[in-house]
This record gives sequence, structure tokens and C-alpha cells, in this order.
Amino acid sequence: MSPNLTAVRNELPALQDTAYLNTGSYGPLSRAAAKAIEEENRQQLEAGRLTSMGESAQSIPASLRAGFARVLGCDADEVALTHHTTDGMNIATWGIQYRPGDEIVTNSWEHPGGLLPVFAAARRFDLKVRMVDLSLEDDEESILTKFDRAIGPRTRLVSVAHVSWKTGTILPIDQLAELVHRRGGLLAVDGAQSGGAMRLEMSSSQADFYAIPGQKWLCGPEGIGALYVDRERTGDLLQTYVGYPSLRDGGAYDETGIFLPPAGAKRYEVGTTYRPAIAGMWSGLQWLERLGLDWVYDRTQKITEFTRTALSAVPTVRLVHTPTHAGLTSFTIDGVSPAEAVDQLAKAGVLIRSVPDPNLIRVSSHFFNDESDIEKLRAGIENLT
Ligand SMILES: Cc1ncc(COP(=O)(O)O)c(C=O)c1O
Repeated sequence: MSPNLTAVRNELPALQDTAYLNTGSYGPLSRAAAKAIEEENRQQLEAGRLTSMGESAQSIPASLRAGFARVLGCDADEVALTHHTTDGMNIATWGIQYRPGDEIVTNSWEHPGGLLPVFAAARRFDLKVRMVDLSLEDDEESILTKFDRAIGPRTRLVSVAHVSWKTGTILPIDQLAELVHRRGGLLAVDGAQSGGAMRLEMSSSQADFYAIPGQKWLCGPEGIGALYVDRERTGDLLQTYVGYPSLRDGGAYDETGIFLPPAGAKRYEVGTTYRPAIAGMWSGLQWLERLGLDWVYDRTQKITEFTRTALSAVPTVRLVHTPTHAGLTSFTIDGVSPAEAVDQLAKAGVLIRSVPDPNLIRVSSHFFNDESDIEKLRAGIENLT
């Protein structure tokens, strides 16, 4: 039986007074996540950090890795806990053994979270960055043709977001992976706008690395995310940062400089973590799993279709038509700038955002949004014009 939407919405108090349509920036925190954060903080305060550590300090991160693995569609040993998407993209981008003159291929729709690690690595290792110029007119075929032209024998990495934060377009990551693998390079995917918004199957995907955050479509806390590293690629992806958690066990190093990592992606984890975020994410994820991840994805797809249809019916709205999409919808309104529209709609209790280059208004619709949120958005836009 499908969950009751009113009951689901009650578990997300931030929805009470607003049409919350900005999950692509931050999802609303669930009661389940908030309660676990508070409980962990209370324990640390009252019992001290050492006494509150116990077994849960090991078991909750392990459960969370397994939970993220179910979101990513992979095995738990292919998941490293990170702090956010950008953290995962840095681990993937910096871990490759480049030679001067090697190339990284990326594109004009990337978020700084994926792009800046590419720029910084290029500067340090003397690499060439090939920028694929994507446009609103592109379809899947032309996107692939453009990448095919840009990827060459010296391409070591292609770095792309699965879902563009600007247009909402889903990039064909499996075909991109095929193109780069054929030339001996690897694919790193920024999953900030896909993790928790759509079904992911890393076990059958060709992507090598895939980074997701907790605070957006998974409605978790800040400071927690995950990086998938294909089991076959752990040998190719060097550890850039290392520490106690990156060891096979506590004693797996010696003074000659030898240290032994575990077999899987846990080797990319470093140092002490913020346990309230881990506990909060784990509780929040369990709540989502009780609702059913398939239900979450299906509902996101349906309400996003509903949003697109409702916006298409407004004569002043120019929708960006993407070949495929997850939960993001971008558009412009005749005679109103995106910044002005976002400000005015916020005053009417509708939370959305604008994005730059191309300058667009962006709506995020997720499983918890209902038709009344979209009606509020539509009415707000009609009042503007
Ligand atoms: C596509 C994309 N990548 C990366 C980020 C940065 O995410 P995080 O703060 O989790 O690193 C965002 C945030 O909006 C995003 O939309």
C-alpha cells in the first residue's frame, strides 16, 4: 500500500507554511533525521564522547554505507562516507595518476562542485581541460556527438553531473562511460541532483565514480554524503588523503611507510567524523526506506510531470524542454527576470531559485510535494505577470 501523503508531509515540518520547491538546493530535514541528531548530541553532552561511543560508533557508519549502497544500487564495500558531493568529486578527480599533458573532459553545465576540482588538478598536474559547450537545443544524440569529439587518447577523466543543476537534463552517463573507456579513461559523475531523486543502478552502470550528498534529495543533514567507487577501479584511484579509517585495521602500517588499505572504498575515508550527521542521515534514510525508495522515485517522477504540464499551460512561461529529467524543471517568464520572480514568489510562500548561464528559474519537485504546491506556484507566476 502506498504511504499516505498527508502523513508523509507531517514528517517534514518545513513544508507546513510554504510550497517547498527547492530541494535541489536543500531538502527539508525529516523529523526522523532531526530526532537522531538531537539524541546523539544529547548523549555526547550528558554521557561524554568516550562513553557514548560504544558499538554504535562502528555499527551506524557501517549501516549507513549499506543504506547509501541501496540508494546507489551497488555493494556496501563500494561506498565511502564523505561530507558532501564536492568531497566525493575531489576524491575521484585527484586520485587519478596523471602525466603532464593528459586531458580532462567536462562541460559548460557543470556545478563548481565538480568543475573546480578539475580546474585545480589541471593547474597542479599541467593538464588540459576540454570544455564541451552544451546548449539548450542539445538532445541526447548531439550531447554524445560533442563528447565523442572532445574525448581523445590522452583523456584520463570525463567529469559530468548526471542531472544538470541548470537545466535538469539527465546526461547519458553509460554511453559517456563507453566513449571514455574506449580511449582508456574513466568517468566521474556528480550525483548531487540525482541521488535520492531517481533510481540509480551502479552495479549495471558503466560509471567508475559517483558522488552524492545527504542534504538534498535524501532530506538528510548537512555534512554527510557518499562516494561510489567501482570495485574494479579501487586500484586505479589513489588515496589522496589518508588516515586511521583508511587502514585495513588499526595496526596496518609501520614506520617504514608501509600502510595497508581495506579492500573497498572505505580506504577514502579520513579522520574523525561528526557523529550527529551520520546518525541523522541513517535515521532519515531508514524513514525513506520505510516509505519505499521505489515509491519515492515514482512519486518524484509523477509530480515533476505534473509540474511541467502545469507550467506549460501558463502562456508566459518558456519551459526548457529536456530529453530526459529527474526532479528539476527550468524555465523563464516573459517580462520578469529570474531573480525578480524568485523574490516575488518567496513573498508568496513559494520557495524556488534561479540559476546562472543560462539565466533560468529552477523548480525542484520531490516525492513530498503535492498538487497544491504546484497550484501555488502556478498562481504565483500568474500574479507576477
Ligand atoms: C550538480 C551539483 N553539484 C554539486 C553541488 C554541491 O553539492 P555539495 O554541497 O553536496 O557538495 C550542487 C549543489 O547545489 C549541485 O547542484
